[in-house]
Amino acid sequence: MGPDAVAIIPGARLVRRSADTEFPFRQDSDFWYLTGFNHPEATAVFRTTPGRPAYSLFVQPRDRAAETWTGIRPGIEGARAEFGADEAADCGSLIESIPEVLNDAQRLFHSFGRDAKLDASIQAVQEDRRLHSRRGGAPIDEILDPRAPLHEMRLFKSPEEMALMREAAAITCEAHQAAAREAAPERNEYEIEALLDYVFRRRGGSGPAYGSIVAGGANAAILHYITNDQPLRSGELLLIDAGCEFKGYASDVTRTYPVGGRFQGAQRAVYQAVLEAQQTAIEAVGPGTTLPEIHAAALRKLVEGMLDLKLLDGQIDDLIEQQAYTQYYMHSTSHWLGLDVHDVGRYAVEGKPRALEPGMVFTIEPGMYIARDDASAPESLRGIGVRIEDDIAMTADGYENLTEAIPKTSEAIENWMA
Ligand code: GLY
Ligand code: MN
Ligand code: MN
Repeated sequence: MGPDAVAIIPGARLVRRSADTEFPFRQDSDFWYLTGFNHPEATAVFRTTPGRPAYSLFVQPRDRAAETWTGIRPGIEGARAEFGADEAADCGSLIESIPEVLNDAQRLFHSFGRDAKLDASIQAVQEDRRLHSRRGGAPIDEILDPRAPLHEMRLFKSPEEMALMREAAAITCEAHQAAAREAAPERNEYEIEALLDYVFRRRGGSGPAYGSIVAGGANAAILHYITNDQPLRSGELLLIDAGCEFKGYASDVTRTYPVGGRFQGAQRAVYQAVLEAQQTAIEAVGPGTTLPEIHAAALRKLVEGMLDLKLLDGQIDDLIEQQAYTQYYMHSTSHWLGLDVHDVGRYAVEGKPRALEPGMVFTIEPGMYIARDDASAPESLRGIGVRIEDDIAMTADGYENLTEAIPKTSEAIENWMA
């Protein structure tokens, strides 16, 4: 942060769901990363000015009546005793404390645009200091967004974070196995979703890390299909994109299973093309590789597959150049993974894609999607959607596939389901 700096990091609030009910609380990822404090309405203040508290937490105070309704709070005492804050105060006093918080600060880390009252109180202090500059006051020199350095920190997972991500992946493996076993024609997509949720929770996860996609048949061609309310049909595929959130950390896994346990006809060929693309992309991973290089490796294999399947016709380099594949593959191959499923961290540095380094975690998730009504596709392929997604962690000597235990060759999937 540099000398004489202050950072103000607000946590998440409860969000209204309907009438007087609220969505389940999910802490803000940046706040969680820095504090491990999992209660609403809190704000952390960090200071580097000598002689002032380095770490202050503004939290909901103990309140017997409120706690009877919504649960135990650590309160001001708990913020110090259990969470290591040097100083703690009532979150209701944050706004009035801002002049004092900013006292002596030459540099402020604050994200404008998230809390209008907080923004206004900071601007009021700046104006006040400007107006009184003749009496020695001076506005804060520099106001920076804390997300730039914080997100760079979050991009590189510590060994402790890596262990949590491994656990999220292990739970996800168990959930996919339970789901695959139930992927039979008498089931509905929501039953499979419920089973995933059950395993996530039973194993100590907080639930899914994002809306689970349980997409039977042609629903797999809807990339963010989360309606999950259709019956599974014999002979169709079931695309499951679901990952557990464990202590805030996401896993993000897609497998495509044959309803009833055996891939049929053209499904097997589409599946094989996506699998080869995914395996080729994983083989491209190494220290210094970039995500666009991984995407290019997957894409080339996918386009080869599209030519073999007669989805496309022409020269492979031209088809890639003209992006003719976007009819069947319209998303990117990778994203960072961490406390958020599409995690933070810059993808490019100085205009160039950044090289992979130890501690980075990302997905590799090629797919092929042929819409039910795509008259330009061979009839046997219409309504088939396949994606295969794993989570890759860069290590000191290469990479670790965190989700390798979840079967993905067609034979291994058929055996697993049986
Ligand atoms: N489930 C969202 C994604 O794969 O990126
Ligand atoms: Mn996914
Ligand atoms: Mn993903």
